[in-house]
Amino acid sequence: MNPPSYILGLSYGYHDSAASLLRDGEIIAAAQEERFTRVKQDARFPQNAIRYCLREAGVNLNAISTVYYYENPDKKFDRIIQTYLNFGLHGLKSFVQEVPDWLLNKRHVKRALQSKFQQLFPSSAASLPHLEYIDHHESHAAAAFFPSPFQQAAVLCVDGVGEWATTSAWIGSENRLTPLWEIRFPHSLGLLYSAITYFCGFKVDSGEYKLMGLAPYGRPLYAKQIREHLIDVKEDGSFWLNMDYFDYAVGNSMITEKFSHIFSGPQREPEGLITRREFDLAASIQVVLEDTLLRLARTLRKQSGIRNLCMAGGVALNCVANGKLLASGIFDQIWVQPASGDAGGALGAALAGWHMREQAPRLPQSGDRMRATLLGSSYDDAEVAASLRGLGAVFTRLEDTKLCPHVAQLLAQGNVVGWFQGRMEFGPRALGSRSILGDARNRDMQSVMNLKIKNRESFRPFAPVVLEEHVGEWFDIDRDSPYMLFVVGVQQQKRRQTSAEDQALEGIELLKCIRSEVPAVTHIDYSARVQTVGANANPRLRELLQAFHAQTGCPVLVNTSFNVRGEPIVESPANAYLCFMRTQMDYLVVGNYLIRKSDQPALVEQGDWREEFALD
Ligand SMILES: [Fe+2]
Repeated sequence: MNPPSYILGLSYGYHDSAASLLRDGEIIAAAQEERFTRVKQDARFPQNAIRYCLREAGVNLNAISTVYYYENPDKKFDRIIQTYLNFGLHGLKSFVQEVPDWLLNKRHVKRALQSKFQQLFPSSAASLPHLEYIDHHESHAAAAFFPSPFQQAAVLCVDGVGEWATTSAWIGSENRLTPLWEIRFPHSLGLLYSAITYFCGFKVDSGEYKLMGLAPYGRPLYAKQIREHLIDVKEDGSFWLNMDYFDYAVGNSMITEKFSHIFSGPQREPEGLITRREFDLAASIQVVLEDTLLRLARTLRKQSGIRNLCMAGGVALNCVANGKLLASGIFDQIWVQPASGDAGGALGAALAGWHMREQAPRLPQSGDRMRATLLGSSYDDAEVAASLRGLGAVFTRLEDTKLCPHVAQLLAQGNVVGWFQGRMEFGPRALGSRSILGDARNRDMQSVMNLKIKNRESFRPFAPVVLEEHVGEWFDIDRDSPYMLFVVGVQQQKRRQTSAEDQALEGIELLKCIRSEVPAVTHIDYSARVQTVGANANPRLRELLQAFHAQTGCPVLVNTSFNVRGEPIVESPANAYLCFMRTQMDYLVVGNYLIRKSDQPALVEQGDWREEFALD
């Protein structure tokens, strides 16, 4: 029998560094560097994530045959030079700033990787793995298709930019991806959405989610201006941006002066008051994005003749648009890669390497290959106990049979519970392994969780996690949604008439209005970002939901990520305990250990911990 083949996929250098490891094509481990370094969207060489992946597989670097990097720096450099040539003198200033760095450093990723590996694993220096580049959109397409449950699918990748492509379409069949067409930089749906995000005073690459959450408060009053001035969308979904309004191609900003002329005034200051204009802009760009994606999807459905769609790229995290795409029925089934951003490129690069370069077959499977995204680090019972003891925590250990009924009771009593179990999730969402949970029926839960725990004022409700077999009773969706990637309506029979008092609310206050039996997870337009938990997904989370359902008749909980604003999701029991102690969570559960806030010794810290994390 041949020894197993191990390959590593990496993304790093821009944002969201990550590593993933395949053994004979099976996804063994994947993790983002930020979780280990505690620096949000850490872009540095993912040394901790690599070490973790090797540890998980029980191998050292010598076992890795090839490392696949998630984009091609030569092609990217070509795009950068071509863009400067096209824009002429206008880009001279940033040309002088950027190009020398490319010539000296950024272009030579293989050389940099080699030296990083040498430093990290000095004993393996004599036999470093082979290094290969995979194109950025090929990495996204591979992450979208190869782990999906489909043997055949149309694949759509939409993001900011990689080398040249900003939108690409593919046919996935068995172990092959065949490119159909692409739309190239500087014309980018992702960068258009980011430009509006920036104009509305939110951070590019992380504030896009906020813009999406803001959309239901507004009316699409600016959609006409966006279409008239910023983007020309053709019937087939292809589009063209008017670069008079955008400066990202060769400048130092997302937008030009002219941008503010069409939206009545300058951009909103970060952390400033959110006005009606921002609500309406969010609603407007959401409508334009959805319409463009629907057109692209129709074109792809027609061209491919295939009924399954796979998606990846940062824009595929727009779960409101995904919900519309699902409801449109253009495709029968849609599978979206849960790590659709560039961290997922690490996984895609490895999968593209395995199936496309090494031509390994794709074995038949039932369900997808993402293991509910539980691809990250975990801590066994003894490690948890040792860690908690070392931190001076006061805790009790509950037996398996007692744990979930007890925690369900605590939740039903209105407590907020930090929930740390098993392997960490890969991708931006916490799906019940590194989560904060609460009772979705509780009318105060939304504001309690936001203000006392997440340290933020939010216009977004939290996401519901629901037992898969009950999802149809509570939400308007007829299938599973294990990755919280589709926004759908709350079922009519669970909705409530709003009171006259509630109807008088305005702006962000609208979120306080009780619209359903699960107000903490119901947005102002009665929508919800649903996560379903089926029989094979996350056994302990499922058991907790079942216990809560048995006690209360409600199979829904609030699920939000275990972190505060600006902090990466917790990785270790120590991270979890610190976050628990810094906030007003009532209980923490790590594995079988229950920790009650009121039993804990006071946390002594120097300085204000809030300054540790830059606001996102
Ligand atoms: Fe990307």
